[in-house]
Formats: sequence, structure tokens, C-alpha cells
Amino acid sequence: MTKVNANGIKQNVFQGRSVLAEKDFTPAELEYLVNFGLHLKALKKENIPHHYLEGKNIALLFEKSSTRTRSAFTTAAIDLGAHPEYLGQNDIQFGRKETTSDTAKVLGSMFDGIEFRGFKQSTVEILAKDSGVPVWNGLTDEWHPTQMLADFMTIKENFGSFKGLTLTFMGDGRNNMANSLLVTCAMFGVNIRILAPKDLFPSSEVQSIAKGFAQKSGADILITDDLDKGLKGANIVYTDVWVSMGENNWAQRIKLLKPYQVNMAALKKTGTPDDQLIFMHCLPAFHNDQTEYGQKIEEKYGLKEMEVTDEVFASKYARQFEEAENRMHSIKAMMAATLGNLFIPKV
Ligand code: CP
Ligand code: NVA
Repeated sequence: MTKVNANGIKQNVFQGRSVLAEKDFTPAELEYLVNFGLHLKALKKENIPHHYLEGKNIALLFEKSSTRTRSAFTTAAIDLGAHPEYLGQNDIQFGRKETTSDTAKVLGSMFDGIEFRGFKQSTVEILAKDSGVPVWNGLTDEWHPTQMLADFMTIKENFGSFKGLTLTFMGDGRNNMANSLLVTCAMFGVNIRILAPKDLFPSSEVQSIAKGFAQKSGADILITDDLDKGLKGANIVYTDVWVSMGENNWAQRIKLLKPYQVNMAALKKTGTPDDQLIFMHCLPAFHNDQTEYGQKIEEKYGLKEMEVTDEVFASKYARQFEEAENRMHSIKAMMAATLGNLFIPKV
């Protein structure tokens, strides 16, 4: 039965829900959030107010560092009329002096919604179970669902629809981005190639979730270590860092992933016409030696660029900064839909 809110209005399908992983939503629901993000982007550009969360308090809980996710949640909350509060790793007792469950109960009694970025997926699950308010996953070791909303907004902006597209993810095929892209492409009917060395192929669990969705959407899935097969026909070439937050195995990853760098030769292998091909990266990226990390890598391993060359990063194919901006619009859509008591007729 449809739930009715305090004003006698039928509750929409998103109200009160947490966003922990893409697979917890139907493809239609996920696409609704993508489209709602595009709508809110248009409102923002036209300076049309959208204070759907007036008077709400939002906790931003970060175990790992962040530029885009933190900035996006902060500005999105403010644009929606809510108050965001950043609670960093060393600011609260969380995880050191207090259990996740106790923290969840306390935060849930004061905040109307909680964002969490950190290591374990089980942490975000406990927060959602015990806080009693919507919890949004701002990245764990397993999934990065808010990144997917922004990325598929970007894909829609570039191609108009998802129909017939092929996305190739090159790099660490077991990380949060590879997992999320594999499952989300399968949900949306986008053909997906995970192009990685065999040692870094996605887990069988993630592959089987993706296969389940692909059976219904018609998406073609290929997991391969063969550059020619993995890149052929791609419209979107996507990559991510070779060593994710919480890892430190640079030597092993560089050895394994060097052949899987996104460079101009890799883009050429797609055989896709220029106007049908884009490059994407969730960022941050190692595309030169202008960072502290970049310099250390150059000194130790003699590499000036890692997962993507500077040439590709600065090329006409690159869309990474559009994705970054879309983090804000899409996170706004997700928070408004799950917390804003909005009238959403049918999804
Ligand atoms: N893409 C992304 O999540 O960026 P941050 O780590 O800067 O939040
Ligand atoms: N795989 C990366 C994604 C950063 C947005 C990490 O977890 O560090």
C-alpha cells in the first residue's frame, strides 16, 4: 500500500530510503534520479530556487578524504535550504571510542540525513539500519553510487540516451568504480567491458549481480585482459586510479596496470568516430607529476603519468570536469528525492 505523509500526500517511492548501492534500486528508479539531476542542473543555471530541504540538518561523515564528494554534498545541501555539517575522521568518537551503531542512533536523533564515506560497506549499512534517517553512500571500498548518478548524467548530456552505447573501464577491475560501473551499465543496458589484467578481474559476486541485470536490459558484458577486444567499439573509455584510498601496493599495481594506461593509442583502438567517443575519469587523476604523490611515483618508478596520459586528459575527448560538476546536481537530486517529501507521481 502507498504510504501517506503528514499532509495526506502519497509518499513517493524514494522518500525515506537510503542510497547504499546501485543494485538496491530498479533501473527505472536510478534513471529517474539521473534525470532529476539534469532538471535540477537546469534550475540552478536559471537561478530558480529549489529549497526542497528547508530546515533539515545533514551530517557529512568522512573516514577518507574527498574534494568532489564533500564539496558536492555541502553546496547541494545549501542550495536545497538544508544545513550541512562536516564530521571528519578525527572530529568525532566514531570508530575509536564509539560503535557505529551507537553513533548512528545519536546522529539520527539530531540529523535528518547522513552522508558516509569510508572503508567498509558494512559501516554504511549499519548507519542506515540504526539511524532511522536516509543514509547516502559517498564511497566505500565496494561501491560509489553517487558517482554513478553524475556519470550517467554526463553520458546523457553527451549522447542523449544510453541506447546502443559501449563503455570500457580500463584499470583496477576490482575497485569501487569498476564495481559500480559494471552493475550500473548492466542496469541501463549499456554494453560494458572491464579491461584489466586477470589478477584484477571483478569478483564473481559483482559479476553475477551485473549478469542478473544484463539479462533484463540486454547489456553485453565482457571481462577481458585483451586490449583490442576490450576497446573495440567503445564510446566511453573510463579509468580510475591504480591504487585506491586505503591501499598502498604501488609496485605491484604499476607492474600489472602499465599496459592498461589510457593513452591516444588506446583511444585509437576503439575504432569509434571522434564525435562518438569520450574519455571519463571520476578524479582525482594521476596524469602528470605535478602533485606530491606524482613526484614520489616519478622518483621511485620513473613514471610521469599513470592511468591516463596528460595528452588524453587535456584532449577534446575529456569529460572529467563535467562529471565533477554533475556530482553536485545529482547528489542534490538524490537528497531531495529521499528526504524532500516531493510529489513524484510514478517511476
Ligand atoms: N570522484 C570523487 O569521489 O572525488 P573525491 O574523492 O574528491 O570526493
Ligand atoms: N577508486 C578510487 C575512487 C576515488 C573517487 C578510490 O577509492 O580511491
